[in-house]
Amino acid sequence: MPESMLGLKRSHRCTELGTADIGQKVTVMGWVQKNRNKGGIIFVDLRDRSGILQIIFEEKDCGTESFAKAEKLRSEFVIAVVGRVEARTGAVNQNLATGSIEVRAESLRILSESETPPFPIEENSKTKEELRLKYRFLDLRRPDLQRNLMLRSRIAVLTRQFLAEEGFLEIETPTLIKSTPEGARDYLVPSRVHPGCFYALPQSPQLFKQLLMCAGYDRYFQLARCYRDEDLRADRQPEFTQIDMELSFVDVDDVLDVNERLIHKLFKEILNIEIPLPIPRMTWQEAMDRYGSDKPDIRFGMELTDVSEVVKGSEFVVFRNALEAGGTVRGINAKGQGAMPRKKIDALVEFAKGYGAKGLAYIAIQPDGSRKSSFAKFMTEEEMTALIAAMGGEPGDLLLFAADKKKVVWDVLGALRVELAGQLGLLKKDDFRFLWVTEFPLLEYSEEQGRFVAMHHPFTMPMDEDWHLIDSDPGAVRAKAYDIVLNGTELGGGSVRIHQSDIQSKMFEVLGFTPEKAQEQFGFLLEAFKYGVPPHAGLAYGLDRVAMLMGGCDSIREVIAFPKVKDASCLMTEAPSPVDAKQLEELGIEISEI
Ligand code: AMO
Ligand code: AMP
Repeated sequence: MPESMLGLKRSHRCTELGTADIGQKVTVMGWVQKNRNKGGIIFVDLRDRSGILQIIFEEKDCGTESFAKAEKLRSEFVIAVVGRVEARTGAVNQNLATGSIEVRAESLRILSESETPPFPIEENSKTKEELRLKYRFLDLRRPDLQRNLMLRSRIAVLTRQFLAEEGFLEIETPTLIKSTPEGARDYLVPSRVHPGCFYALPQSPQLFKQLLMCAGYDRYFQLARCYRDEDLRADRQPEFTQIDMELSFVDVDDVLDVNERLIHKLFKEILNIEIPLPIPRMTWQEAMDRYGSDKPDIRFGMELTDVSEVVKGSEFVVFRNALEAGGTVRGINAKGQGAMPRKKIDALVEFAKGYGAKGLAYIAIQPDGSRKSSFAKFMTEEEMTALIAAMGGEPGDLLLFAADKKKVVWDVLGALRVELAGQLGLLKKDDFRFLWVTEFPLLEYSEEQGRFVAMHHPFTMPMDEDWHLIDSDPGAVRAKAYDIVLNGTELGGGSVRIHQSDIQSKMFEVLGFTPEKAQEQFGFLLEAFKYGVPPHAGLAYGLDRVAMLMGGCDSIREVIAFPKVKDASCLMTEAPSPVDAKQLEELGIEISEI
C-alpha cells in the first residue's frame, strides 16, 4: 500500500550531499536504482535527477517495520528515506559523486511501487530506440537524457538572460497563422468557424518578427516553436524550437557580433570552453569550392581540388565528357589511405553513387610509389604525374575524383570527405569549430518548378553591388544572408531584410509572383512597409541542434523530451490518429479514400 509523504519534506537531492554533511540528519526521495540484500544489511542505490546516493538499511537503525519494507523494494519503486549521512562503510566508489558517503536509514516509506520496467533505466542504453520512445517517460529517467534536458534548459535560460541584457524584448507571436507556402510544406489546422478555411502552423516567426520591427520594438527574440512538414533526418523534426531574433538599424556585422558573444557565453558557462572570437567567415562560393558544402566541417582538411585544367586534354571519356558538357573534375586527397583495400574503395564508390555520382575514379599511391588506379589505362604517364602533382599526392595517399556537373561534384566530394573523416576518426565531438558562411546566392534555380526560388526567403536583401544583375543574370546575385555552421551542421541562419518596396516588388516578380498573388499572400507585410519601416536583420538558431552538438549527441531526438520518429508519428501517444466523425463534421471535413 503506497504511503503518503505527510510530515516529510525532502531536504536534499541525492548528490547534493557530500563528506561535509557527515553526521547530519537528512530526508531524501527518489527511485530505487538497485538494491542488494546481504542478509541483515540492505544496500539501495537511490536515484533522482541529480544522480545516485547509497542508502544502507539495518534493522537496529531503522526498526523492524522499515526493514521489512526495505526487503520488499524493487527497481523503480519511489521511496522516502530519513537517515543520517555517514562515511562509506565499504569501499569508496570513485564513479559516483557521492561515492565516499552513504545515508544510514532511520525510516523508510514506499511512496509508490513499480512494475518491472520494459528496459533497465541506465546510462548508454542498448535498448532499441522504438521501445525507448514508446516508453519515453521511462527513457527520460535515464541519466544521459536527464543530462541532455538539463543542458538544454541551461542553454534556454542563459540565452534569455544574455539577450535580455543586450536589450532584446521577448515577444510571443501566434502559432495559428496564415498559410504562406514558401520553403517547406505547412501543417494545416482547419477552422470550425470558417468552414473550408485553414490556419497554418508557423514554419518560423519570420513575418511577425519583421512586423515587430516595423512597430518599433527594435530588438526582439523568442524561443519559438516551429513546424515543417518535411522529411525527417537526424537533425530534423517536424516540430522544433528556434532561438529567433530580429534587430533594427543594423547591418550584417551587428548581427554577427551579438551572436558571437551569445555563442561565447553559452560555451563558456555551460562547457567551460573558450570559443575564439571572432568566428571565422567564409563566403558561400569559397565554402563550396573548398569543401563542396555550404556547411563545411572545418575540423579537418581534405579539401577539394579543381583539376579540370590538368585533365582537360586527357582521353579518359569520363573526364572528357564531363568537361565537354560544361562540368568539372575535382578530387580529394585522403592522406595516408593509399593502402586501403579494394573492397573499401568500392564501398566509397557506392557511397558516392548515393550522392548522385556516376562513379568515382581513384589513384591509390602505394607506399613504394607504385599506383593502383581505376583509370590509369586511359591516361598518359605525363598526365598521371601532372594530376598527382596537382593533388599534392605522395606515396601512401588515396586520390578520389568525381567528374560531373559542378553541383553533383560538390555534393559527392563534400559528402565523401566527411564520410572518410568519420572512418578515419577525425570527427572529434569535443572540438568545436564554428564558421560563418556568408554571401549566399539570393536565388537558386528550381528545375522542378522551372523558375528561380529564394535560397533563404523572399525578404532577404540582395548585396548592393550585385543588384544590377537581377534581370541579366539573377543566379549571380548574392544576398546579405549568413549561416552559422558548427562542425558541418547548420546551427542557424539569417539575413538582412529588404525594407524598400521597389526591391521587394522586383523580388516577387523574379520569383514569379504576380502583384496580385504577392498582395494576396503577403499583403499585410507590404501594407506595413508603407508606413515607415526601419532597416532590419535577424537570425534564428535551431535550439535542438545547438543542444545536440553541445551535448555530443548524434540525433536531436536525444535533446527533445518527446520527439517524433521518421514518419512524423509519436510512438508514445500514437499521434497522429483518426478523430471522431463528429469532430470532422463540425469542421466540415470529409475523408476521401486514401
Ligand atoms: P531557417 O529555415 O534557416 O531560417 O531555420 C533556422 C534554423 O532552424 C533550424 N531548423 C530545424 N531544426 C530542427 N528541425 C527542423 N525541421 C529544422 N528546420 C530548421 C536549423 C536552421 O538553421 N526565419 C528564418 C531565420 C531568419 O532569417 O531570421 C528561418 O527560419 O538550425
Ligand atoms: P568505366 O570506364 O565506366 O569503368 O569507368 C572507369 C572509372 O571511372 C571507374 O573507376 C568509374 O567508377 C569511374 N567513373 C565513372 N564515372 C565517373 C564520374 N562521373 N566521375 C568520376 N569517376 C567516374
